[in-house]
Amino acid sequence: MSVLPAERPANAPVGQPRTARPRRSRQHPAPSPAPGTTFAALGVATALVTVLARDGIITPRPIQAAVLPDALAGRDILGCAQTGSGKTLSFSLPLVARLARGHTMACRPRGLVLVPTRELATQVEAVLSPLAGAVGLTVAVVFGGTPQRPQVAALRGRADIVVACPGRLADLIGQGHCHLGDVEVSVLDEADQMADLGFLPEVRRLLEATPPEGQRLLFSATLDGEVDVLARRFLARPVRHDVDAAGPPAQIAHYLLTVPPSERAAVVAALASGEGRALIFTRTRRGASKLARQLTIAGTPAAELHGDLAQGARSRNLAAFGSGEVHAMVATDIAARGLHVDGIALVIHADPPAEHKAYVHRSGRTARAGAAGTVVTVQTAAQSAEVRALMRKAGVTPRAAAAGPGSAVLRSIAGPPARRITPVAGSARPVLAATQATGSGAVAASGGFRGRSRQGRRG
Ligand SMILES: Nc1ncnc2c1ncn2[C@@H]1O[C@H](COP(=O)(O)OP(=O)(O)OP(=O)(O)O)[C@@H](O)[C@H]1O
Ligand SMILES: [Mg+2]
Repeated sequence: MSVLPAERPANAPVGQPRTARPRRSRQHPAPSPAPGTTFAALGVATALVTVLARDGIITPRPIQAAVLPDALAGRDILGCAQTGSGKTLSFSLPLVARLARGHTMACRPRGLVLVPTRELATQVEAVLSPLAGAVGLTVAVVFGGTPQRPQVAALRGRADIVVACPGRLADLIGQGHCHLGDVEVSVLDEADQMADLGFLPEVRRLLEATPPEGQRLLFSATLDGEVDVLARRFLARPVRHDVDAAGPPAQIAHYLLTVPPSERAAVVAALASGEGRALIFTRTRRGASKLARQLTIAGTPAAELHGDLAQGARSRNLAAFGSGEVHAMVATDIAARGLHVDGIALVIHADPPAEHKAYVHRSGRTARAGAAGTVVTVQTAAQSAEVRALMRKAGVTPRAAAAGPGSAVLRSIAGPPARRITPVAGSARPVLAATQATGSGAVAASGGFRGRSRQGRRG
C-alpha cells in the first residue's frame, strides 16, 4: 500500500517502516488562497510567526500563500516564482515545522537543503536559523573551501538541518561523518541548476541516500524541464505551484547598449559610477578580476566575487558589498542565483549571459521584494544576434541604444555620481584622505575586497 504525502502526519517520526514511493503524477496548479491572508491562517505555528514579525514579515507573499498549506500538509512541491518573491521562506517554514517535534541523532540530520553555491548556503542558513532556534532546532552549513572540522562538529552535535553544497556533503558522507538515512524533508533550491549536468550525479546520489518516503521540495524562478529527471525519480504526486508571469519581475527597466569592444570597460565604469549599488556580471573569473581592477582605477572601488578567490576573500568581499563599504561588485555567475543583497539598484551584464535563464537570475539580483531596479546588458555588435535571441526567450524587450563612454544615456542610467575614490598610482587599491577614512575607501584601502587567488571548485 502506498502512503501519499498528504495523508501522512506532518511530523511522522523517523524509523517508521519505509514505503516505496508511489507512482509519480504531476498535478495542476492549486488555486492560491485569498490575498490578505496571514501566516497563522496558512497553518504556520505561532512561534514561527513571531520570528517572522520580528523581521517585519507579516503578510505572506503569493508563492508562500500558495505553497504553505500543501507543504505543511506534507506534500511534495514544485514551486516556481519570480526572483526575489520569497521562495526561501516557502520551503524554510514547512521544513522547520515538520521537524519541530522529533529527535535528531549525532551525524544524522533530519532536514536537508541543497544549494548550488557557498554564498547561497550561508544565506539560507541565516534565514533558517532563527526559525529553527524558535522551535529548538539547530542548523549546520556544509560547503567546501573552508575547514571541515567545524562542520563535522556541528553534525556530531546533532544538527537537525543541514544546508549544503553537494560536493562537501558527499565528502563528509564518504568519510562517515554524515548519514542521510533519517532525512524527513529534502529541499533543492535553484532546483533546475541542481539538475544540470554539473550537479546531477551528486544530487541524485544524495537524494538516493535519503528515505524514499521523505518529503521533497523543489524551488526555482526558472523551474523548467531540466528538473523532470529529478521530479520523476524523487517526487511523489507533487503539487506544482507557478506564481507570477515567467521571466524577470515587471518592475525592472531593461537596457541594451551596443558598444565598441575597446570601450566596454569605460562604459561599464560610467554606468557603475553612480551612488546606487551596482552588481556587474562577467563570464569568466579572470574577466571579473580584471574589470574590478579597471573600475577601481577609474575611481569606483569594486569588490570581486568568483571561484578563483579563497573562501575568506569571497565572504569578505560580499560582506563589503552588502554593508555598502563598496557600492560595486564584479562577479561571475556564482552570484547569479539566489543571492539577496539589499538595495542593488543596477545589474550590469558586462558580458552578456550565456543563456536566457542566466539573464533572468542575474537580473533578479535587483528589483527584489517589490523594489524597482535597472538592468543593462552591454554587448558588442558581434554579440547582438545571440543577445537578441536570449532576450526574446527571457520575454524581455529592452530599450536599445549605441553607446560610448561619453553617452548621455550612461549618466541617466547611473544617476547622481558617487564621490570618486583616487587609486594609489600603479595599484588597483584606492586611497582616501584622512578625513574620509571611515568611508568606502577605508575598506578599499585595506585591500579587503580583493584577495588572494586560489583555484576554487564548485560548491
Ligand atoms: N512575506 C514577506 N514579506 C516581506 N518580505 C519578505 C516576505 N517573504 C520574503 N521576503 C523578503 O524578500 C526578499 C527576497 O526573498 P527570497 O530571497 O526568498 O527570494 P527568492 O524568491 O528566493 O529569490 P531568488 O529566485 O532570487 O532566489 C528577502 O529579503 C526576504 O526577507
Ligand atoms: Mg531563492
